[in-house]
Amino acid sequence: MSITFNKPPSVAFLTGQFTAENVIKKVTRSGDLSGVFHDIAAWQAIPSDTPIYEVEMLNSLQGEGELYVGMTHLHPGRVGNEFHMTRGHFHQRREQGEVYFGIRGSGLLLLQNEHRKAWLEHVSPGSVHIIPGDTAHRLINTGSEVLSALAVWPSIAGHDYGSLAQGFAARVVLQDGKIQAKEVQNG
Ligand code: F6R
Ligand code: ZN
Repeated sequence: MSITFNKPPSVAFLTGQFTAENVIKKVTRSGDLSGVFHDIAAWQAIPSDTPIYEVEMLNSLQGEGELYVGMTHLHPGRVGNEFHMTRGHFHQRREQGEVYFGIRGSGLLLLQNEHRKAWLEHVSPGSVHIIPGDTAHRLINTGSEVLSALAVWPSIAGHDYGSLAQGFAARVVLQDGKIQAKEVQNG
């Protein structure tokens, strides 16, 4: 019997581009992000087909014990004074964690527990983010280039967006020329 050598997928460290077969790409556009940004008039002024972020996923096994691998590319920009961000979610299986790894650009990872306690971590090329279970997470691009981050999570985790319908407990805005995180009561 001979041992086979499989060709693994690869990622370009400078751009976060995957080289692999069967990469699945999902584009999230401004129009998909209803209720996400604070300044509704500013959000409505943006063409609804404007891409805000793309997620590319490698082809991997599903089921208990298996892992998904995805790359988020979050475009720079603001809606009003608020930086571009992902929708953000808890995992449906609350106890399931995730790892994010910064690849390109600069931004923040907003984390929040079930008691609405929020905190932030700086995302930059090489940063490693261990997201515990029971913790909602959202990427925010505070820089001027695309923010790309690799994510690895259990395929059974699922996504729960609904529990954050009232929004996260913090918003990150440009105010007085500075990046500022503001605590908010209700989204
Ligand atoms: C998967 C994960 C990421 C996000 C991606 C888009 O569990 O955390 O791959 O799914 O950054 O963000 P959402 O899903 O919040 O639109
Ligand atoms: Zn997640």
